[in-house]
Amino acid sequence: MQHVDLKEIRSGGYVGKKVTVCGWVRTSRDSKNVAFAELNDGSELNHTQVVFDKAVFSDKELSSLLSLGSALSVVGTVEKGMKDETCEIRAEKVTLLGGSDTAYPLQKKRHTMEFLRTIPHLRVRTNTFNAVFRVRSELSYAIHEFFHKNGYYYVHSPIITGSDCEGAGEVFKVTTVGYDPTVKSEEDYNKKDFFGRSAGLTVSGQLEGEVMATALGKIYTFGPTFRAENSNTPRHAAEFWQIEPEVAFADIDDIIGIATDMIKSIIAHLLKNCAQEMKFFDERFEPGLIAKLQNVVDSEFARVDYADAIEILKKSGKTFVYPVEWGLDLQTEHERYLTDEFFKKPVFVVNYPRKIKSFYMKQNPDGKTVAATDLLVPGVGEIIGCSEREADYDKLLKEITDRGMKLSDYANYLDLRKFGSVPHSGFGLGLERMLMYVTGMSNIRDVIEFPRTKDDLK
Ligand code: 4AD
Ligand code: MG
Repeated sequence: MQHVDLKEIRSGGYVGKKVTVCGWVRTSRDSKNVAFAELNDGSELNHTQVVFDKAVFSDKELSSLLSLGSALSVVGTVEKGMKDETCEIRAEKVTLLGGSDTAYPLQKKRHTMEFLRTIPHLRVRTNTFNAVFRVRSELSYAIHEFFHKNGYYYVHSPIITGSDCEGAGEVFKVTTVGYDPTVKSEEDYNKKDFFGRSAGLTVSGQLEGEVMATALGKIYTFGPTFRAENSNTPRHAAEFWQIEPEVAFADIDDIIGIATDMIKSIIAHLLKNCAQEMKFFDERFEPGLIAKLQNVVDSEFARVDYADAIEILKKSGKTFVYPVEWGLDLQTEHERYLTDEFFKKPVFVVNYPRKIKSFYMKQNPDGKTVAATDLLVPGVGEIIGCSEREADYDKLLKEITDRGMKLSDYANYLDLRKFGSVPHSGFGLGLERMLMYVTGMSNIRDVIEFPRTKDDLK
């Protein structure tokens, strides 16, 4: 269909010209001699006002054209709007492409986020979700741009895998074999299956990323990852997107520098390229959001040793639900205290106890801790999991064996330490967690259009 995007028209140069535009009616109002519809075609967050002269359009015609959710094609002349920066379109000929009626769930009122989650197929037509998914797209672009500009290769790790990267037992099974009472053992069951062995959906592309990095040098993955996490929290999803750079010849300090540069770069990109959306979130969801993000771009991130973080928590005077003790994992409440209240900015917590972290992390000389860090940010908690990888064959072999992991699943991974092993490091950024941070949305279900969480799949 020949038409001009509304964004293009609003960007200037069209006043006095006759144009054809398309879009959905977001709001409308009627007055004595004229009626108005706010049209949106998805090309930008702001709407464009269409003016209907009642001498041209009958009341009957208008009642269907002004119905919320209707799709229109409008031929009209662009006029200067009431405010300097906007314009409006005086309709001459209007075609109803697809009507809508009062059953349309998005009527003129502020709906709750809970209600909007029940209509994932329509909620993106609200300003809030329109803004979220615009930012999601731009954020993804900014991430690709950052890595591309810095000489990284974009690689594709498999979705179906035979190993559990994080070893946390949260793998979704992939199977074509149903219940069979004649099968005697798990081994027999797996043998009958599609791959002749057990398979699952990947929890992380890291292990394959390491393979690629030990040839291509600097790579990143950007894809969906899956975790059968039982926790029903505002920041866990069963399907989420992860960006996982992996860098050869890099130690933990190098990778912390890379993660810092990436976060600053993508935030700066959003502030510049999503001005309408960021203003919207600042006004409606998190007052001060833009200043907060600008401050992240302009200032240094904090860095604290895990052991010191434990001391800070112990001295906080707070009563936490979960205990605080060296050797125990940090819970959300602890992460939130450190970043929201103590440091009041993004903080890298480094050198976690070996026992609570994954098998692949580089063991520090103290024998107790690993060269691993989580980046915690105010309001969300952990957004990045990061580490230098254990490059020593014997240490890695022992760790895999001690943890009772199946050696055959990690034979290729161990091979990387046999042939030209190098210091290398990487991290995983959760796309949805990052989106929560930059938009001020407080629930992960509202930054992914079709959230998959425990007991919920729409
Ligand atoms: O800390 P995680 O488990 O680290 C890894 O998977 C490493 N293999 C990454 C690497 O070094 N290549 O997960 C990384 C990030 C977390 O910091 C968090 O942002 C996000 O992934 N994440 C989740 N996001 C939403 N829902 C979940 N259930 C998530 N689990 C992790
Ligand atoms: Mg983690």
